Amino acid sequence: MAEKSFKYIILGGGVSAGYAAKEFANQGVKPGELAVISKEAVAPYERPALSKGYLFPEGKNLKFAFGVCFLFREGIIIFTSIAGAARLPGFHCCVGSGGEKLLPESYKQKGIELILSTEIVKADLAAKTLVSAAGDVFKYETLIIATGSTVLRLTDFGVKGADSTNILYLREIDDADKVVEAIKAKKGGKAVVVGGGYIGLELSSALRINDFDVTMVFPEPWCMPRLFTADIAAFYETYYTNKGVKIIKGTVASGFTAHPNGEVNEVQLKDGRSLEADIVIVGVGAKPLTSLFKGQVEEDKGGIKTDAFFKTSVPDVYAVGDVATFPLKMYGDMRRVEHVDHSRKSAEQAVKAIKAAEGGGTVEEYDYLPFFYSRSFDLSWQFYGDNVGDSVLFGDSNPSNPKPRFGAYWIQDGKVVGAFMEGGCGDENKALAKVAKARPVAESLDELAKQGISFAAKI
Ligand code: FDA
Ligand code: NAD
Repeated sequence: MAEKSFKYIILGGGVSAGYAAKEFANQGVKPGELAVISKEAVAPYERPALSKGYLFPEGKNLKFAFGVCFLFREGIIIFTSIAGAARLPGFHCCVGSGGEKLLPESYKQKGIELILSTEIVKADLAAKTLVSAAGDVFKYETLIIATGSTVLRLTDFGVKGADSTNILYLREIDDADKVVEAIKAKKGGKAVVVGGGYIGLELSSALRINDFDVTMVFPEPWCMPRLFTADIAAFYETYYTNKGVKIIKGTVASGFTAHPNGEVNEVQLKDGRSLEADIVIVGVGAKPLTSLFKGQVEEDKGGIKTDAFFKTSVPDVYAVGDVATFPLKMYGDMRRVEHVDHSRKSAEQAVKAIKAAEGGGTVEEYDYLPFFYSRSFDLSWQFYGDNVGDSVLFGDSNPSNPKPRFGAYWIQDGKVVGAFMEGGCGDENKALAKVAKARPVAESLDELAKQGISFAAKI
């Protein structure tokens, strides 16, 4: 069994790992100082592509191609289209924020060792040692934990028949390949999507675009309840229904039956109904991958507790991305965020802090403004800030209009604390960020509804 030593190890090969590696390269690392260890077989990539461009039908021209939308997010609108689905190497980190694309060979060129298809099964933070499934030992001086999240599985809850073939989850590129294969094999068939959150909404759209007969099932009274108000959700539910997606609310999948070959053919719901299915996609949430470090590092809110530099309770150990529970300075509390913008920025912050400390200096505390977004069909929304307090809708939220453009503000203690917009242009999305950061006093909900995006644009 091999033993290797590095000055820095990034454990994980996802978004945070890619952005941390890029920041190390920017700051300067000597050949052989840094290793990225990932259980995935490919170099770090922009995970959001997996539920969007990766699932586009091959050969179709679609407006919201992967690269286009990231530029859109940065406020640069390039109306173009690419043929077919996104594939690697097109979306390796760090193209998602307009940065350099780190191809597998780029790591070598920068003196970074990319150790792929290598799962770490044991971490000894006191001995500064990681052990892989193959028994290889990796020693480090500084560790960045970037293990991200894993999906919650219906088999974990003992749902009968949940291990049938074609009941699929989506986290990594291998999962996405299975979804692509199933889409090809069951073309034009029936799909049931279990879950009404991010995966539920994005995958229902992707399957519909691939001409599946889609039914979404989720337990809550409206979709995406962790962010959407009932008003916002009503727009998306009607839009999806108009696109042919059937929505069943207030119940869960309680069992599955399969053909003799093991492939799922029916979903039983708790309310007694049953649905035919050729494919089932499950998106019932994720959990941070912290188990390797249990009992060795302080935890908070289900994640690894860090300070504003992503330093954990263990010296020389940092945690970034989905696994980190960090101080959200502007709200004065500890949060864990499962979104890509934070995974990129936390990774960069940790590396800057590590490098600054080596020179006896420091960097400014992480001062994060939460930013979430999603895209499906021809829709694209962005949200900044906190979705707490009262909320009000503005603009035209008629789902039948060809170009719906509407938004919402959240107000707490008389101040605007969160802002959302569907169909906003670059400047409008920038205004959302500004208003959520500035937290201005709002006269009344009615006034905000009347002023709409122009209220944010004045900030
Ligand atoms: P990430 O999951 O990216 O990477 C973790 C890496 O660690 C993986 O490579 C994993 O294999 C590896 N790993 C874990 N344990 C290991 C071990 N023991 N040994 C070796 N390697 C190990 N967000 C958003 O804001 N907008 C969006 O549109 C989307 N879209 C989206 C689509 C899909 C399909 C998913 C699954 C997620 C999103 N997200 C998103 C969320 C976003 O992608 C997510 O928050 C970041 O990828 C988190 O980055 P991390 O680096 O923390 O984890
Ligand atoms: P989620 O938390 O967004 O949604 C889970 C949904 O499943 C909720 O509506 C929940 O109530 C529902 N649910 C729970 N148990 C259920 C059951 N037994 N049957 C039916 N529904 C059930 O999680 P997700 O959509 O699975 O996403 C997984 C991860 O991927 C998250 O970290 C998410 O942030 C990330 N992601 C983000 C984006 C984005 O930001 N655009 C896109 C895709 C994925």
